[in-house]
Amino acid sequence: MRNLINILDLTTEEIDELIRSASEIIDNPELYKNSCRGKILGTLFFEPSTRTRLSFTSAMMGLGGDVLGFSQAASSSISKGETVADTIRMVSSYSDIIVMRHPKEGAPIVASNVASVPVINAGDGGHFHPTQTLTDLLTIKKKKGRFDNLTVGVCGDLKYGRTVHSLISAMARYEGVKFVLISPPELALPDYVKNEFLKNCEYCETASLEEAIPSLDILYMTRIQAERFDSKDEYERLKDTYILNAEKLKCAKPDLSILHPLPRVNEIDTDVDDDPRAHYFDQATYGRYIRMALILMLLKTKGVDDRRTHGKEDKHLVCTNPHCISHGDSERGIKRLFEGGKCIYCDQMAEKV
Ligand code: NCD
Repeated sequence: MRNLINILDLTTEEIDELIRSASEIIDNPELYKNSCRGKILGTLFFEPSTRTRLSFTSAMMGLGGDVLGFSQAASSSISKGETVADTIRMVSSYSDIIVMRHPKEGAPIVASNVASVPVINAGDGGHFHPTQTLTDLLTIKKKKGRFDNLTVGVCGDLKYGRTVHSLISAMARYEGVKFVLISPPELALPDYVKNEFLKNCEYCETASLEEAIPSLDILYMTRIQAERFDSKDEYERLKDTYILNAEKLKCAKPDLSILHPLPRVNEIDTDVDDDPRAHYFDQATYGRYIRMALILMLLKTKGVDDRRTHGKEDKHLVCTNPHCISHGDSERGIKRLFEGGKCIYCDQMAEKV
């Protein structure tokens, strides 16, 4: 089965192909209106979503397919204590492709290992969000015309922002890309992202958005992820750290591209919305088309089995990340697998016991 769990599951050539296909769909939507006739997309959202769930639904409808699913964990049997694996086994037999969002990091890996249909990760905790990255990449291609030789500022919650982790891992593969990581020290990019994806890439870290702005080709703003904080006070202290407004943009490049995965809270003032460099609403629109291209690609690919069977059980290692699907007892029967000292579900270093 061909899945999309991590953006690096796609080669740069496949990303180019998806962008070509999405552009063709944008130009000729009529040609695709029956492409998925008779196929069903299962949308399993264990966490809130507006754009991702609705754009997947709209994408499948635009291809002539049907959609079933749920939009909150409370309305599924997870609330009765069912595991992710059992839920997915069931939904596999009701649908041809599954898209899922789950608060636990690595949940889509558990799902893809038992599913008999392709699984798409629509966000797993604070870990990854590869289809948002496809949306971001299509926007960057449309607005900047290229992926290489760009200075990309990512600003806000780099610790819990899953869209940031996926975007950095995707963009780091292109020649001459530099990152400016803008966050308070408490919300800095986690080590597993830095060490794994930025090891061959030029980057700098700063707490000052004002200082960073003049050098940027892309400014990717993000929301402080309230729902992932252990302490409400800490969230309250940090929530308005960055507010982009028209004044701050005065010293930005004239062809800057301002992106945001949305939803925004306070981090982009509405006085930026009419600036021609504000591309975040276009970005949300592009999401539907790149997801159409993705559904077509995954349904078409036959004979591939990219289940995560790597890694080994090791009774001397334990994953101490409380947000990981392998932590605790909720996912009964999960095989706790490690590779290179890291947990294969959440990519964090395991601890020795
Ligand atoms: C993002 C997410 O869910 O991670 N939203 C989205 O999918 N467009 C960003 C966020 O919630 O802040």
